[in-house]
Amino acid sequence: MKPSPAAEEKILILDFGSQYTQVIARRVRECRVYSEIIPYHTKASKIRAMAPSGIIFSGGPASVYAPKAPRVDAGIYDLGVPILGICYGLQLIAHDLGGRVEPSNHREYGPGKLKADAACPLFHGLPRSLEVWNSHGDRLTRLPRGFSPMGQTENSPHAVIGHARRRIFGLQFHPEVVHTPRGREILSNFVHRVCGCPSTWTTGSFIERSCREIRAQVGEGRVILGLSGGVDSSVTAALLHRAIGDRLTCIFVDHGLLRAGEVEAVRKLFRGEFKIRLITINARRRFLSRLKGVTDPERKRKIIGREFIRVFETAARNLRKHDPEGHRFLAQGTLYPDVIESVSISGNPAALIKSHHNVGGLPERMSFELVEPLRQLFKDEVRLVGSELGLSKEVVYRQPFPGPGLAVRILGAVTPERLRIVREADAIVIEEMKAAGWYYKVWQSFAVLLPVRSVGVMGDERTYDYTVALRTVQSHDGMTADWVRLPYPLLAKISSRIINEVKGVNRLCYDVSTKPPSTIEWE
Ligand code: XMP
Repeated sequence: MKPSPAAEEKILILDFGSQYTQVIARRVRECRVYSEIIPYHTKASKIRAMAPSGIIFSGGPASVYAPKAPRVDAGIYDLGVPILGICYGLQLIAHDLGGRVEPSNHREYGPGKLKADAACPLFHGLPRSLEVWNSHGDRLTRLPRGFSPMGQTENSPHAVIGHARRRIFGLQFHPEVVHTPRGREILSNFVHRVCGCPSTWTTGSFIERSCREIRAQVGEGRVILGLSGGVDSSVTAALLHRAIGDRLTCIFVDHGLLRAGEVEAVRKLFRGEFKIRLITINARRRFLSRLKGVTDPERKRKIIGREFIRVFETAARNLRKHDPEGHRFLAQGTLYPDVIESVSISGNPAALIKSHHNVGGLPERMSFELVEPLRQLFKDEVRLVGSELGLSKEVVYRQPFPGPGLAVRILGAVTPERLRIVREADAIVIEEMKAAGWYYKVWQSFAVLLPVRSVGVMGDERTYDYTVALRTVQSHDGMTADWVRLPYPLLAKISSRIINEVKGVNRLCYDVSTKPPSTIEWE
């Protein structure tokens, strides 16, 4: 993100590569203070220009005495701005200011008890004994000059250190994680009491700040956005439209694998209500013909991903033809979890289970400058921003829908007939889940078409029709999931409506598998 005008208080978080860096940023925002993550090697002069009220050094996997350990510009310590070091951050402060850090014989990992010093401002209003979460191998054996110990755990006499006059503190444990139950208050004490920040940051101020940043980045240029109808791209569209009006053009590819009424809903909302320039591309025939006879799930996903990029690129190129300089920017609704997931892809075998396709991540071959205003946020924060921008509950709280759409909910080959069946069944699931008050309570609920025919009887006639599987799952992040214990009357209603109303279906099964070992989508 570009540095923004110092219109309000902010805390800068120097990232040393901890998996929790963003969680720190989020905790600070929960204290209603704006926070921004910047690389650990940012120059002190640049940090001064950003005028932070406080700086937090995140944790990180390195050891401070390793030859290539990440270091800060030493000028940071002379800015007179309060600093809080967490884990690696504490060790770095100690190392830089003349203390000593050594490998510990007792790696501290997991829960521990902290004896907190009453005089330390970080523990204001907290009990003397605190549960904390540790994750470190090194420990501090000699304090830097002027620092005092302000808290101990069993294995670390210097689990908390501080220099009250210079307002520099260090915590060996992680206050940002939920396993440190009073950690939020410790961070709140830092931002409010030590740094003196008032609680002024709100979703509204995020929107204002983002708009300023988008305008600063884009100038007079034009932005293209791939709209999927999902939460992230919808909120990004609304935010960009607020920032630059009709210099935003959205491209919506209708690959024919969408849910009932989706194309119309997107058009009505973005073109009708928001008056956003929207290009809808009807590529239904193209996708269907490329998918003809393809039964392997991975091949289906790959074909859809590839075709999607082609269609999108052609549309973007057409826009650029008329104004190559102007359409330099591509907006994406990337969220923080997407950033972590894509980072972990290289080493994480889980990423190979399915080739994910998102509207984001496009298109690599065209040289676009990316605009990613939601990059620092978590999903629930994005939803609040969306609501504030005037998007309805239907859009903001809708369930996730996979990029390859209904194609991965039809097992085996995709045909127009099977698409019709799964689309009609899906519409009934959504309708009944909403009517029963369950839709917004679960992570996902949908119908899957199995290419299995079985014998049934309708009226006096024998039928030989398809089976629909109903899948409803609860999940926090899609990585693990449990099936939802829906009430029998609701299951009965959904089952009888689908079997009676959707031609070609005579049986419904309820999927009672967890993830792992199953996945949420069937393909
Ligand atoms: P699985 O099936 O892997 O799904 O357990 C986990 C979550 O991801 C969604 N999903 C996708 N989302 N593009 C997406 O944007 C995809 O290709 C894709 N595949 C699965 C799925 O709906 C669930 O919420």
